[in-house]
Amino acid sequence: MDIDGYRISEQPYYLASGNEVALYEAAYADRMPMMLKGPTGCGKTRFIEHMAWKLQRPLITVACHEDMTASDLVGRYLLDETGTVWHDGPLTIAVRCGAICYLDEIVEARQDTTVVIHPLTDERRLLPLEKKNELVRAHPDFQLVISYNPGYQSAIKDLKESTKQRFGAIDFDYPEKPLEAAIVAHEAKIDTALAESLVDIAARSRNLRGSGLDEGASTRMLIYAARLISRGIPILEACEVALITPVTDDADIRDALRSAVAACLQ
Ligand SMILES: Nc1ncnc2c1ncn2[C@@H]1O[C@H](COP(=O)(O)OP(=O)(O)OP(=O)(O)O)[C@@H](O)[C@H]1O
Ligand SMILES: [Mg+2]
Repeated sequence: MDIDGYRISEQPYYLASGNEVALYEAAYADRMPMMLKGPTGCGKTRFIEHMAWKLQRPLITVACHEDMTASDLVGRYLLDETGTVWHDGPLTIAVRCGAICYLDEIVEARQDTTVVIHPLTDERRLLPLEKKNELVRAHPDFQLVISYNPGYQSAIKDLKESTKQRFGAIDFDYPEKPLEAAIVAHEAKIDTALAESLVDIAARSRNLRGSGLDEGASTRMLIYAARLISRGIPILEACEVALITPVTDDADIRDALRSAVAACLQ
């Protein structure tokens, strides 16, 4: 098994908003399962990449979805020319090799899938491979991390209390203006003044949350806009493509967003 492919050799750029790095390091020292909570595009994935690099652990990420089964996580028997051969799933690989396993959007997975992580996330640190009749003891360096977008859950689509209570959690949100502008400027190689204007637009778009928009513009969207601009696309058009069209089809809300863009670019 080639775990080296999961190692992060170059430092992922991450600008901290608070003491999340120290908190996470302390949690990792105890191998505490962790939950990263926050809206889309606010830096959760970048943070875990940065921490895996800092702690020198391989990082195995699984994008969870509603059709995902426990076998997709732990593994299954597959047929090949020699007969049926067991293939470890990504979670099992991480458990055996001492990687950090990041289950992205875990709430999307069905609850019968989620419970496979229970024996891994308490004192036992065990992963039962029922179909293979094997009990895998987690490598001492293994840690489980999940992401969670608060606010997107419905009553039927939420983590069970017994799952939630197995994790420590860190809240993430869009960074304060100077930090977010620095991130956008860095990631898209634009100047800070322009990045600040984009962050101002995001603030207005985030204020429309609840009144027509489910979510305001994320840091990720600002970076998209900035990258289009740095490739020569006029600012208004870049904002249209990256900040307005993706989030709403409603003509009035698009107009409201256009006014926000115009106001911030004066
Ligand atoms: N604090 C930060 N430091 C550096 N870059 C950041 C930071 N926050 C956001 N970014 C930038 O924003 C982009 C989007 O962030 P990221 O992919 O980590 O979001 P996410 O929270 O994982 O979103 P999702 O819930 O949709 O998966 C990153 O690729 C990175 O360029
Ligand atoms: Mg992510």
